[in-house]
Amino acid sequence: MGHADRQLDPVAAERDAARDVHALAPFWMPFSPNKAFKAEPRLFVRGEGMYLYTDDGRQLLDASSGLFCVAAGHCRPEIAEAVQRQLMTLDYSMPFTRSHPLAFRLAREVVQFTPEGLDRVFFVGSGSEAIDSAMKMALAYHRARGQGQRQLFVSRERAYHGVNFGGVALSGMINNRRAFGVGLPGVYHMRHTGLPENRFAKGQPEHGAELADDLIRFCSMYGGENIAAVFVEPVAGSFGCLPPPKGYLERLRAICNEHGILLVFDEVITGWGRLGANFAAQAFAVTPDLITMAKAITNGAQPLGAVAARTAVYDTITEAGPAAGIEFFHGYTYSAHPACAAAALAMLDIFRRERLVERAAALAPYFIDALFSLADLPAVVDIRAIGLLGAIEVAPAGAPGARGYALQNRLFDAGLSLKTTGDNLLVAPPLISERAHVDAIVARLREALAAVA
Ligand SMILES: Cc1ncc(COP(=O)(O)O)c(C=O)c1O
Repeated sequence: MGHADRQLDPVAAERDAARDVHALAPFWMPFSPNKAFKAEPRLFVRGEGMYLYTDDGRQLLDASSGLFCVAAGHCRPEIAEAVQRQLMTLDYSMPFTRSHPLAFRLAREVVQFTPEGLDRVFFVGSGSEAIDSAMKMALAYHRARGQGQRQLFVSRERAYHGVNFGGVALSGMINNRRAFGVGLPGVYHMRHTGLPENRFAKGQPEHGAELADDLIRFCSMYGGENIAAVFVEPVAGSFGCLPPPKGYLERLRAICNEHGILLVFDEVITGWGRLGANFAAQAFAVTPDLITMAKAITNGAQPLGAVAARTAVYDTITEAGPAAGIEFFHGYTYSAHPACAAAALAMLDIFRRERLVERAAALAPYFIDALFSLADLPAVVDIRAIGLLGAIEVAPAGAPGARGYALQNRLFDAGLSLKTTGDNLLVAPPLISERAHVDAIVARLREALAAVA
């Protein structure tokens, strides 16, 4: 195509540029092998329902809901129209000392889904921001009730809590920490629950509830009265689906109660239906003090996260503040952005109308059995799954993660898009999936996994 033609056809020009290594150079890609990608780019240009489409016209089944976001399928017109309407009505309003009605309406809606008692909602732009906000809430809450000595945090090995400095300090995934120095002091990590005896456990494994007692050791070692909060993903997601051992979360809750420590569930992945309940807190019948969320709250169509807090946390911080002044010195330029709030309201409407949570619950047993049908493949060393979230772990070949990355590319070429972490293939299809989609996902996985054995 000549230069003049390209100017006439900007879509074709973009497509050409995407195949030109030099045109790709300026974009520094996140969490990606930049050099390898730019040598062999794989680009999506369109999404619809369960499918993504590449710039060269191929169709891929989206087996990880983008990054666990697209619960209702791609390009939902209800969300797009709500965002457009909002951008044409009120595109932005300052979130500090002023607000707009949709922010309040969204908070009222969100608390219809959260566990009873978590009735106050602080909006942010992402999961990472939700985590750092929750850390600050924990510190501010204890200070407000005269326990400002509580400065320590506890999290867990293999945890992923986003990429801001607070979240990285809580993180238990080494590659997300090692390049960035010492981070925040005063964070202690419990052992992870990925025990060898739990391999190929369906749903919650039998072994490992006692690992929660690591928290008792930290209370003895550092003083329970000095710990502000414990952060856990109820099911470790990004690492590769580690459901909690039976009794584990209950035990954490009891230890936190005994020592006055706040329990925080990071539900950025598990929230909004992924486990067949609104939140993992309800799926496991354990209620934390704070829940962080993001991703599926807008179906991934707009960046939005939130922290749901127990009313007592909000009341304590707010009442300790001045009679007429800011009580919590925290917030973002894009907190409860009008277009993001509009997207979330449209999405929550879809959640209700299409009974997405119930659909996820109904499909989960079929999905889990289908994933476990891959257990006979020699390359597969473990499978873990709960709700509509699963991971297939393959034996490493070469450097850790090399086989996972190669498989991700092989699957892409076979028409399946999913996320990998190291040598774990993460499967988390949209909540609108039908059995036929699960069958197609598993068939493609079988073919790819058999080829690398
Ligand atoms: C459990 C958990 N917390 C936090 C985050 C960070 O969210 P974000 O990428 O929106 O900052 C993620 C992202 O995958 C996550 O899985």
